[in-house]
Amino acid sequence: MPEQTLTIALSKGRIYKDTLPLLAEAGIEPKDDPETSRKLILDTNRDDVKLVVIRATDVPTYVQYGAADVGVSGKDVLMEHGGDGLYEPLDLNIARCRLMVAGRPEAGTRGGRLRVATKFVNITRRYYAEQGKQVEIIKLYGSMELAPLVGLSDCIVDLVDTGNTLKANGLVPLEHIADISSRLVVNKAAMKMKSARVKRLIKDLDAAVARRV
Ligand code: ATP
Ligand code: PRP
Repeated sequence: MPEQTLTIALSKGRIYKDTLPLLAEAGIEPKDDPETSRKLILDTNRDDVKLVVIRATDVPTYVQYGAADVGVSGKDVLMEHGGDGLYEPLDLNIARCRLMVAGRPEAGTRGGRLRVATKFVNITRRYYAEQGKQVEIIKLYGSMELAPLVGLSDCIVDLVDTGNTLKANGLVPLEHIADISSRLVVNKAAMKMKSARVKRLIKDLDAAVARRV
């Protein structure tokens, strides 16, 4: 890609869908639809702006290493990643949800060390360490709500929005860990080397976000 190309990393699904109108207000419109195209690098109406469409959990890594200059990432993913090499200049106020401990209403009454299933291993370790609690963390990659139902864990750490997924599985929210929304992240070197363009994008997106509230 030409040196002066600005590369924006997004994940398919809700982040892409929610970021698209904000990018449009900043004058950036993709030429392909990632839901139907197999292309991983999408051209936009601007020759100097490309989108890369990747897994949500990979966005901070691409931006950290400068493979993308900026990206959009859930705060949950950023907390889990640690945020090294990234600036986080803007809350886009999209994909809002909560990171919670959840389980059966009687979770934690079994005695012994609590078993917690989650894909957010680092966040979970930090959360319980801050309370001085030693827990056993079981790493999963999805469908966390199943774990307490089949005796794999006492509780889970997962995202909750409407609460419908918990409810459908007989689980309840137990503890609130953090409010989550998606953030614009910027590679630290790109913030210096492509300063004018990155700052312009931040300003335009900031204005688009402000117009919504
Ligand atoms: P990966 O593909 O890397 O496993 P994922 O499947 O979690 O990621 P999405 O489900 O698209 O990817 O979620 C992307 C982001 O959207 C999450 O990191 C979180 O910040 C937010 N999010 C997840 N679930 C919800 C929800 N139910 N309501 C609102 N926002 C959500
Ligand atoms: C997320 C999360 C919960 C669900 C919560 O899953 O992992 O399972 O949303 O939302 P609710 O409280 O509104 O029911 P998602 O829909 O992203 O599925 P995925 O993790 O399999 O991608």
